[in-house]
Amino acid sequence: MMEMLGLVAASSYAQHIDFVFNMIFWITAFWLLLAEFVFFYLILRFRKKAGVKGQYITGELASEKRWITIPHFAVLLFDVVILFFAVKVWYEVKQNLPQAADQQLVRVIGQQWAWTFVHAGPDGKLDTPDDIIKVNELHVQVDKLHIFQLESKDVLHDFSVPVFRLKQDVIPGRVITGWFTPTKTGEYDIQCAEICGIGHALMPARIVIETSDQHAAWMAENSTVAVASATAP
Ligand code: CUA
Repeated sequence: MMEMLGLVAASSYAQHIDFVFNMIFWITAFWLLLAEFVFFYLILRFRKKAGVKGQYITGELASEKRWITIPHFAVLLFDVVILFFAVKVWYEVKQNLPQAADQQLVRVIGQQWAWTFVHAGPDGKLDTPDDIIKVNELHVQVDKLHIFQLESKDVLHDFSVPVFRLKQDVIPGRVITGWFTPTKTGEYDIQCAEICGIGHALMPARIVIETSDQHAAWMAENSTVAVASATAP
């Protein structure tokens, strides 16, 4: 469905989230169409006819109750299937925090009404002099695990990257840790997805997913320490 709607999937878990969405869509579509079909069939089949008296059906007979109990249990069974996959994907994206030797760190700070991204820089550590700080512009490397720390300076915001199928509330006073692994290069939208005041709609940003060469070049260009050492005599 998402791909049909033209929304690119650019993270390692995007397709898993789409799978749950699609599954729910098709299961509910199936039951909706079936119920409507039976509904209209019964209306037409038992409509008023000359010489036929109306029946008053109370639904107390076992043969009549089956029309409720069997679909009821079938729907419950599908609910269990949906729950199973929903919990599985939720665990993968939100509960689990993968680790990799070459993971990239980034701090994401929301405020009224902008995003600040603190990239760890060449040393891979936050809060060191080579950090690269950008407003409304996040640079990441394709196929690399990124660990983000979400912070807010004021109110609730929500860090949403539609191509990643990632959406996470930002809560003042808390540091929320999460992860993503981009799988496609390109430039995409970041949105704030939580009403955070009059400027909420003016709180978009961009994510640039680069190849390792492009990312290294961007780092060399932007890190003050790298620039200083490159220009030192
Ligand atoms: Cu920040 Cu809406």
